[in-house]
Amino acid sequence: MLEIEFHDREKEIREIMRILNSRPDLITFVYGPINSGKSSLMDEVVKKLPDDYVVFFIDLRAHVVTSIDEFYDILFSYEIGLKRKITKFSDVISSLLSSTVKFYSGFPLPENLVSKVLKKDKPKNAFTYIFNILHELKSKGKIPIIILDELQVIGDLKINGLLIYELFNFFVTISKRFHLAHVFAITSDSLFIEKVFNEAMLHGRCRYLLVDDFDYNTTKEFLEKHGFNQDEINLIWNYFGGKPVYLVEAIKNKDRLKDFCEKLVRLRRRQIKDSLYSLNVDFRKSVLKLLSNFKDRDFLTYDYLTEELRWCIKNNILFLDPLNDIVKPQSQLDLLAIREVLKRITS
Ligand SMILES: Nc1ncnc2c1ncn2[C@@H]1O[C@H](COP(=O)(O)OP(=O)(O)OP(=O)(O)O)[C@@H](O)[C@H]1O
Ligand SMILES: [Mg+2]
Repeated sequence: MLEIEFHDREKEIREIMRILNSRPDLITFVYGPINSGKSSLMDEVVKKLPDDYVVFFIDLRAHVVTSIDEFYDILFSYEIGLKRKITKFSDVISSLLSSTVKFYSGFPLPENLVSKVLKKDKPKNAFTYIFNILHELKSKGKIPIIILDELQVIGDLKINGLLIYELFNFFVTISKRFHLAHVFAITSDSLFIEKVFNEAMLHGRCRYLLVDDFDYNTTKEFLEKHGFNQDEINLIWNYFGGKPVYLVEAIKNKDRLKDFCEKLVRLRRRQIKDSLYSLNVDFRKSVLKLLSNFKDRDFLTYDYLTEELRWCIKNNILFLDPLNDIVKPQSQLDLLAIREVLKRITS
């Protein structure tokens, strides 16, 4: 099978390394359009880290979390996978310190501590347990990092109040207040980022890192490495822009490039059209009016979230960047598909 190497992201990696080389302070929200390469970027960063970093990568992708137990199952790992039998908190710490592993997909929690740490109505206990792990690691010279991928998955989960607020509070405590760990929250949900951006409790406590599709030169360089000529590069750029996932697919479909590009636009056009037809006539008209702005433009500035804008974002047609006040199609492919749809439906 064709293995395609990780390409570029030098600027973003430099920025993340700069953050990691200073004292933990602000929470970093990594955001960007769908499939722009956010998760791959963080994976790449983790690979490059020296041994004094201990990474807890909590991957909420592809999970539906409807209860606190489901969240705990992702946040903690019960089989610690270590040689010795671990029963006490101090064992957890010594095993983390002595291990050559620097990457964990959950916080280790010995089975006999589960009932004490994980309470259904008291997530604070679980956070205190994690706080203690981070504190111990830091005091022994380690630098803990917590990465949460697709954090918005728990956005609506209520345990007394909204769990996400409790979690944000906890992140502020471990980063800005006690400087114990670097926290990165990755999300491709721009409605979630918009909420975070306007959330008073996070003002001055977080920073944002946009991971967008590749620019033209980065795209060209990537495709040239894979033997594409200028005409092919132009074709791919016109259809896909610099969306890494499509570039990878184009590389795999090099021998039937034009067909492949056209097929993807047709498919996306059909998806967008079908979702528009699921709307009532009046609302569809407003959505089409909004989309018609993209006939001759590739981005818009926005003032506030209208219902039609919200719908287009929810349906992964548009991406909203609250930091730059911009709304744009999720990809060049979406832009082409929107334009095709506009030619075909008028109301
Ligand atoms: N820098 C890169 N170099 C090469 N390929 C890349 C790069 N970044 C992403 N890709 C390709 O694009 C695919 C999608 O990337 P990734 O899953 O990291 O995007 P994402 O932004 O996290 O997506 P989502 O919005 O679904 O969370 C990867 O599986 C990989 O094939
Ligand atoms: Mg991702």
